[in-house]
Amino acid sequence: MIGKICGTGSYAPKKILDNHDLSKFIDTNDQWIRERTGVARRHIIEGETTVTMAVEAANRALKDAGVNAKDIDLLIVTTVSSNVILPCTACEVQKQIKADNATCFDLNAACTGFLFAYNTVQAYMQTNMYKTALVIGAETLSELLDWTDRGTCILFGDGAGAVVVKGEEEGFYYGITHSQGEKGQALTCESRHQKGFGKTILERDTMMKMDGQAVFTFAVRNVPKVIKEVLDKGNLHPEEIDYYILHQANQRIVEGVAKRLHIDMEKFPMNLQEYGNTSSASIPILLDECKKKGVLREGQKIVMAGFGAGLSWGASVFDW
Ligand code: UT7
Repeated sequence: MIGKICGTGSYAPKKILDNHDLSKFIDTNDQWIRERTGVARRHIIEGETTVTMAVEAANRALKDAGVNAKDIDLLIVTTVSSNVILPCTACEVQKQIKADNATCFDLNAACTGFLFAYNTVQAYMQTNMYKTALVIGAETLSELLDWTDRGTCILFGDGAGAVVVKGEEEGFYYGITHSQGEKGQALTCESRHQKGFGKTILERDTMMKMDGQAVFTFAVRNVPKVIKEVLDKGNLHPEEIDYYILHQANQRIVEGVAKRLHIDMEKFPMNLQEYGNTSSASIPILLDECKKKGVLREGQKIVMAGFGAGLSWGASVFDW
């Protein structure tokens, strides 16, 4: 079997923090953030949690797919920001949406999480182990950020996105994944003692730290390469792809990838301006928006690519 995405859903917290709001408590400004990242605003939890956002996105995806929660046999949540360490977020979501027949686990591959989970679902479906999967990317990065570090906190936001994947007898899919632990120090987070935006910072030294330029260079070099690798597997050329759905990390990274592939930016939908970088939630949120806007249509060839902490990166190509 090959998995086909048959429904999408997403959720973003109601509270919005725009660049002007940030400039009130750190030395930054709207122009710098827009020019260097493309971000204008981000959604930040206020009452929501990773679980509540995941549940909302999941219910919307199930409704969109016309699938009953009881029919889900595999439920994966990708997150670096679970509410608690145990039980895993996927089991909490299972309980709340009553997906009683699902096998549930979390997957942490940082911003590449959703891409890795999608490839994992496809691998399971190729062995006929599961038939109907729910994959959710859900992140409350505002709880991991050092809100005094202007080099990092301006980039990220909270949110969740979900897809329902159904196994079909025929279909088109190829995937590639990579990791490079020796470069892991470029993006780290040792604990989650931060209690969220506007609250007490307990141990600043252990919060999210990023060598922005190192991650930037890694992404611009490796994402075009992995896209070419997966296209070679599928015997396709970059111009044969209808849309490239990339992890929304920085507008200049997406532009750099488009340039290296010699593909027009029109084929790279973006929503970073509205959400910032939501790590593993960014791809499913973007898929949901593109589906709802009618951008994605049956039969189109889609490339998805993710990259981030680990370091890790990967791509897949499939029919919508
Ligand atoms: O999701 C995957 C993981 N993360 C990423 O993909 C992130 C990849 N990296 C990036 O997106 C970018 O590196 C950043 C947006 C994080 C930073 O942009 P940059 O162009 O690499 O800036 P920089 O760190 O080289 O800083 C350039 C200048 C510095 O000033 P000087 O030394 O040139 O005087 C910084 O101090 O900009 C200054 N700066 C700021 N100025 C205003 C850094 N952050 C800010 C800020 N506002 N928020």
